[in-house]
Amino acid sequence: MSAPNKNHDPVEVAALAPAAIEAAVDDALAAIAAADSLDELKRLRPAHQGDRSPLALANREIGALPPSAKADAGKRVGQARGRVGQAFADRQTQLEAERDARILVEEAQDVTARVARRPVGRRHPIELMSERIADLFVGMGWEIAEGPEVEAEWFNFDALNFDADHPARQMQDTFYLEPSDGGLVMRTHTSPVQARAMLERGVPIYIAAIGRVFRTDELDATHMPAFHQVEGLAVDEGITMAHLKGTLDRLATELFGEGITTRLRPSYFPFTEPSAEMDLRCFVCRGADADCRTCKGTGWIEWGGCGMVNRNVLTAVGVDADRYTGFAFGMGIDRALMFRTGVSDMRDMIEGDVRFDAQFGMEI
Ligand code: DAH
Repeated sequence: MSAPNKNHDPVEVAALAPAAIEAAVDDALAAIAAADSLDELKRLRPAHQGDRSPLALANREIGALPPSAKADAGKRVGQARGRVGQAFADRQTQLEAERDARILVEEAQDVTARVARRPVGRRHPIELMSERIADLFVGMGWEIAEGPEVEAEWFNFDALNFDADHPARQMQDTFYLEPSDGGLVMRTHTSPVQARAMLERGVPIYIAAIGRVFRTDELDATHMPAFHQVEGLAVDEGITMAHLKGTLDRLATELFGEGITTRLRPSYFPFTEPSAEMDLRCFVCRGADADCRTCKGTGWIEWGGCGMVNRNVLTAVGVDADRYTGFAFGMGIDRALMFRTGVSDMRDMIEGDVRFDAQFGMEI
């Protein structure tokens, strides 16, 4: 700040000279007009509006002027600062508007655009039905047991009381693994899990085993070389065929609906004695339609085999057959799904067409 002077001529104070003020304003307006971003505008402010800007310095000189000169100088500096301030404000508004307009264009979303939808996956219906059956047995207090798909011939046949020359052992029915005399087969049913489970867990035992089994069948509408079975085994003291019937009826009702029970017909399996074929009440006509396509008018649908565990099987796995008795059953899961869903060609179930899963891959 200059030293106070009494005989003041405002022109002598350089910072207050009209030309200097005009030049400071011009500088500021030019810089403001040239600023092409809000950041740059912000950077300019100290030079043109800050404490050390030419106009701020000029403003400070006013105090040193004689009173007669103060008003005029004050007005000029005030107007100059006002113009600069207004120019900043206008440019700020303008740049903000430009930025907003740019954001609207750059970040625009076309809400009518087609979205590349990812189809929702489905569980396979066979998996769902398997889990449902497993849940049902677990709910009755049974355990779930497992066995390998590549099985020892001994478990698949011998332990289950198959004669050495039983036709099921033939190559036409069973996949033997190389070398063919190596004693390994692809399990042809889930029944070997019976023997494994009794060896592992002992008795009393209540287990269900669900899994894939293999036979040398050609793939056609009603046969698959790989399919699924559910096996049940209950061995305890005092188990009778009535327990078997009650369990099967419960399973049928839970899976196919109230009133859908089972019927047993005498049959033969090496590992049960007596043995029975198990039929399901036709859940479409319930036996009331002689022209029913599902049961072909018989009122019953064949579903699996069952019986009282043959004492030779119990003995083979070290269970005291005089003290313990048991029942067993085995049913096809694919078959159950087939008549449950009305699918007439089993191949539809395994071809992996997602439309099949989408239609049947939910609660059934
Ligand atoms: N394992 C037999 C099959 O695949 C089905 C079967 C019949 C299982 C009687 C059993 C049973 O547990 O007791 O044809």
